[in-house]
Amino acid sequence: MPEPSKAELRLCSRLRLPDGEAQAFLQALREGKSSRQALVLTVLTPPGYVPPFPCEDTASWGWLPPRVIVPSDPELKPGAFEDYRKGFYYPLDLSSAWESAALSVVQAPASCLDLCAAPGGKSMLMLARFPEAEHVANEVHPARRGILRDNLKQCGAVRSEVAGLRPDQWAREEGRSFDLILADAPCSGQSLLAKGMKNPGCLNAPMVNGNAKRQKGILLSVLPRLTPGGHVLYSTCTYDPEENEKVMGYLLKRYPDLSAVEVPCLAAFRSSLCGFPAYRLLPRDGFGAGGFCCLLHRSSSSAS
Ligand SMILES: C[S@@+](CC[C@H](N)C(=O)[O-])C[C@H]1O[C@@H](n2cnc3c(N)ncnc32)[C@H](O)[C@@H]1O
Repeated sequence: MPEPSKAELRLCSRLRLPDGEAQAFLQALREGKSSRQALVLTVLTPPGYVPPFPCEDTASWGWLPPRVIVPSDPELKPGAFEDYRKGFYYPLDLSSAWESAALSVVQAPASCLDLCAAPGGKSMLMLARFPEAEHVANEVHPARRGILRDNLKQCGAVRSEVAGLRPDQWAREEGRSFDLILADAPCSGQSLLAKGMKNPGCLNAPMVNGNAKRQKGILLSVLPRLTPGGHVLYSTCTYDPEENEKVMGYLLKRYPDLSAVEVPCLAAFRSSLCGFPAYRLLPRDGFGAGGFCCLLHRSSSSAS
């Protein structure tokens, strides 16, 4: 393997990876073959559905969210099947399904805001788990909002409201509050490298720090919309602690009525980079390109 760059070494050191693991991690980023797909079954999926391709036996994983299946063939093109056209399933990276596993400890919410929703993966996962919840899928970028709308429609999510407010606009929506807020934040997207995609500059400090600042701003803006007793699921598809554990640490320090929630089914993935429960997935785990998630709970006694 060619010599690691300064940026690669810095990331490995921030992740506190021992030498052997650091090398395997960087190799996974360079090879770009860590992608693994999952399919979320939708409201249109017929009861007792059997997909027209073999799927993994995932029972022993213990964390796979409900209504998610994993094709056995890594080369499978799920979009080529008639069932895709019929909206029976929505394809995404398995890491996205992993991130949503943190919702396993959330009691059915009455209302959910997916703040950064396009193209719609986390919304599909939320709807698969909590089909009865009022659901707002929000996306700031108009073109991406159009894709989000099409994907929701294609998968039969006709009760979902599609919105396009910026986080600072949500901050002023005083009449509205949600039991669950998903903040699948825009990030430096370092895991794209492990999927074999180009993402120049994603390891560089200005990119990482700029994203961390934006992530804090997004979360600060939307927190007033969280019902007392409600949850925020924060997730990213990047590895750098600056955009993950440190963003969560910042928020927990600033808001004493927030706490990070233990997720038993993700115990094996608990981050060793912070003292509160947060979870990270790396390519070595074998469940996709990787990501980060942390579930926050707002005390029910806090003022709304
Ligand atoms: C990681 S992607 C979301 C992926 C989506 N949750 C899914 O699972 O399919 C982040 C989204 O945040 C949006 N975004 C970018 N800047 C934003 C901002 N300042 N505030 C809110 N959302 C933003 C992007 O347009 C993008 O759609």
